[in-house]
Amino acid sequence: MNILITGGAGFIGVNLVSYMVNKYPDYKIVVLDALTYAGNLQSLKSVEGKANYTFVKGDICDRTLLDKAFNEHQINAVMHLAAESHVDRSILSAEEFLRTNVMGTYTLLEAARSAWKDAEAGTKRWVFLNVSTDEVYGTLGSTGAFTEQTPYSPNSPYSASKASADHFVRAFYETHGLPTLTTNCSNNYGPFQLPEKLIPLMILNATEGKALPVYGKGDNVRDWLYVEDHCRALDLALHKGRFGQTYNIGGENEWTNIKLVGRICELLDELRPAAGGRGYDSQITFVPDRPGHDLRYAIDATKIKDELGWHAQHSFEQGLKDTVLWYLDNLGWCEDVRSGAYAEYYDKNYIGR
Ligand code: NAD
Ligand code: DAU
Repeated sequence: MNILITGGAGFIGVNLVSYMVNKYPDYKIVVLDALTYAGNLQSLKSVEGKANYTFVKGDICDRTLLDKAFNEHQINAVMHLAAESHVDRSILSAEEFLRTNVMGTYTLLEAARSAWKDAEAGTKRWVFLNVSTDEVYGTLGSTGAFTEQTPYSPNSPYSASKASADHFVRAFYETHGLPTLTTNCSNNYGPFQLPEKLIPLMILNATEGKALPVYGKGDNVRDWLYVEDHCRALDLALHKGRFGQTYNIGGENEWTNIKLVGRICELLDELRPAAGGRGYDSQITFVPDRPGHDLRYAIDATKIKDELGWHAQHSFEQGLKDTVLWYLDNLGWCEDVRSGAYAEYYDKNYIGR
């Protein structure tokens, strides 16, 4: 396969690129990324120079550039991850979310359709895998889990833009026959996640002696999945997923935010004790809630387990500890990603970072 991975310089992207480049030496892996505040070439150092890896700097809204990339690299598979991904940013302004997540996905679909039409006579599997989120389903009460039949009910501008993109992907399958499929995954954690997201933010703020800002009462629930388990699911969906289908991916690993932040504090107490024997949980600070904050997400992953043989391999206990250690060992990377556009935005908009 010659695979175009959009958003390959972001958190899940760099983990996926490294997984695919190492697993498939005979494939061509082409990363296309605009290197926004969320994309970082430093994170792709481990694959730089590998014969099966190419990086293209570019925007998914740029049709000319997309056509060139599809032609030049004879692309026959797309793993589409490029997006504006942070809910809090979408609350302050959703414009970039509309541009990249909706218009960008539409532009990419048109470019893929054109490349796929040209290659249609070929015998190889042609596939457009759209990487989406469980947030499109809205929120759950205290019981139940999202299945592929749960109606879309997005509550944040971020999830509304992802839902819109998912509908376009589905429409291109139904209308044009483009071989698409979509995966909807729960919260990922692991190396290379930007410190605007809960887990890395708490690790860094704790060790820097800053407040640990917990929204509301901290009783919102998320279902956490180690990023490599997500990458394995995407690999399976790419090769074996049925076109026109959606597959939910999740860790069956629900945590309230306050319990999770407490667990991170305990791990830090053990791995990097604070001066004077003080517990890091003394830094927990309850702050005003996120508007429209979804109470609970949980995934029923039966379909991908039964059809594609996927299951999560990483235990949360080990995965979280490895993640804490990764951040403690990579403070230089953290400094790097927190400079420039990232810093300017948080200087203006948020405390505690
Ligand atoms: P991220 O914000 O860390 O990375 C996004 C990447 O997309 C960055 O490298 C950025 O430079 C790039 N990008 C943004 N706009 C672009 C544009 N117009 N053209 C080209 N590149 C552009 O995001 P992430 O957490 O790695 O998420 C990746 C994908 O997975 C997203 O589509 C997200 O919705 C989805 N997802 C994320 C999670 C999660 O927990 N992080 C869970 C489920 C689904
Ligand atoms: O569910 C999948 C989604 O998970 C992805 O689609 C998104 O791209 C990804 O960002 C993530 O969204 P969340 O909003 O769940 O992630 P975030 O890390 O921003 O927040 C996790 C929870 O922690 C959420 O309930 C809000 C809370 N939170 C977050 C931050 C940043 C806090 O309490 N304090 C904080 O400072």
